[in-house]
Amino acid sequence: MLLHTVVSLLLLSVSETVRATPCVAFDINWNLLAFGLDGKDFNAGPQATWTGSGNAADITSSGRPPFDGANTTCYLSQYNNAIYVLNGDSQSPSSIYIYDAAAKSWTTQAVTTGSFNPGSFDAILDHDTNLFYALSNNNLFSLDMGSLKAANSSPVSWVDNEQTPYPSNYQPVMALAQNHVHFLNVPGVPAGSAEIFVIHYSYFQPLPQAYPLPDGSAFPASYGQATSFFQDSGVQEEFAFIPEDSSAVYVINVETNTTQSLAGPTIKDPKATYFASTDSLVQLTSNGAVYFIPYQEGNTSANSAATWSNVKTLTLAAPPSTASSSPSASSAGSLATGSSSGSGSGPAPNGALSGPAVDSGLVLTAVFGAMACIF
Ligand SMILES: *[C@@H]1O[C@H](CO)[C@@H](O)[C@H](O)[C@H]1NC(C)=O
Ligand SMILES: *[C@@H]1O[C@H](CO)[C@@H](O)[C@H](O)[C@H]1NC(C)=O
Ligand SMILES: *[C@@H]1O[C@H](CO)[C@@H](O)[C@H](O)[C@H]1NC(C)=O
Repeated sequence: MLLHTVVSLLLLSVSETVRATPCVAFDINWNLLAFGLDGKDFNAGPQATWTGSGNAADITSSGRPPFDGANTTCYLSQYNNAIYVLNGDSQSPSSIYIYDAAAKSWTTQAVTTGSFNPGSFDAILDHDTNLFYALSNNNLFSLDMGSLKAANSSPVSWVDNEQTPYPSNYQPVMALAQNHVHFLNVPGVPAGSAEIFVIHYSYFQPLPQAYPLPDGSAFPASYGQATSFFQDSGVQEEFAFIPEDSSAVYVINVETNTTQSLAGPTIKDPKATYFASTDSLVQLTSNGAVYFIPYQEGNTSANSAATWSNVKTLTLAAPPSTASSSPSASSAGSLATGSSSGSGSGPAPNGALSGPAVDSGLVLTAVFGAMACIF
């Protein structure tokens, strides 16, 4: 009876826990920005400082989104040094919040959605045109961000361009390189190949493009996450693909049409999201921990030897809910155990987080702790 009451009360608090979906991004100087960690935003600086003993700088300021959307995603507009946040506000899922990284200020851009579903899509932000391309309900949409680093008073609009040639059950995994949108894991396309949409010609290539590994093997035909490596200037030429099982990281180079394999993330979290700069691939786990692997474009021997590390300065500034929900932090295991209290939704779109609230792990610890005490 006592146990029942205690557990009921604690489970009640689990369901009342506010959902938090942080995201990570970079500014154009490759400072790592983490938004919505413990309800705050941080600038962790460049890679060289991440494993130091300082705290990341708190950059929380007014006008920011609450980061309580179901599937929050962030994008860097490199020409504008602005971060665009989609789905960062559960009260206004279609709004695009804009962070001007130079001015350190937030504004909210109103958006006309039309037939676009802001609750279910995957998207990339094209480097040169600053247009979003998104796949939603198997239609390709675009939205022109112009050169915005602060919101315009008139709304911007999602435009329904056309139906994709892909099967209607396709769950999009999208990546951008060389002004080409790559679609991974399209049903019927073999492992190691991607379908392509050529942005400048609004053209779906009729045949998939193969990106073999040097040994002739292929990245898996699997759901997963993808994110582009930036260049200091100019378009992205490579993107990382992290299959859902986190077994490896595949870096696809669209200049050479080859793939290189890197160590899989230490934390094997199918709900983790990723963001890359010029020299780092960053993982944000579903309980708010941040890890990275260094990357050197063109340096195969350095990349194949590279390993994952914790971004300590963010851990110090905003301790993740790891007490219970990340038994794998040091043992490369699975994250599933402590964080399985979420909605049980399917895989999330690119750059998205879905499922457990960031802090539900702690509450669950309390539940199990209480049960342990009583028995
Ligand atoms: C979040 O993403 C999942 C997976 O795509 C989807 O099922 C869910 O409806 C999305 N939720 C919202 C509120 O956007
Ligand atoms: C790589 O693939 C792209 C897209 O299919 C193609 O346009 C290009 O010619 C290929 N490049 C090489 C070096 O094979
Ligand atoms: C590749 O990386 C290794 C290890 O960091 C470094 O010593 C070497 O100089 C790099 N090579 C090139 C061509 O940058």
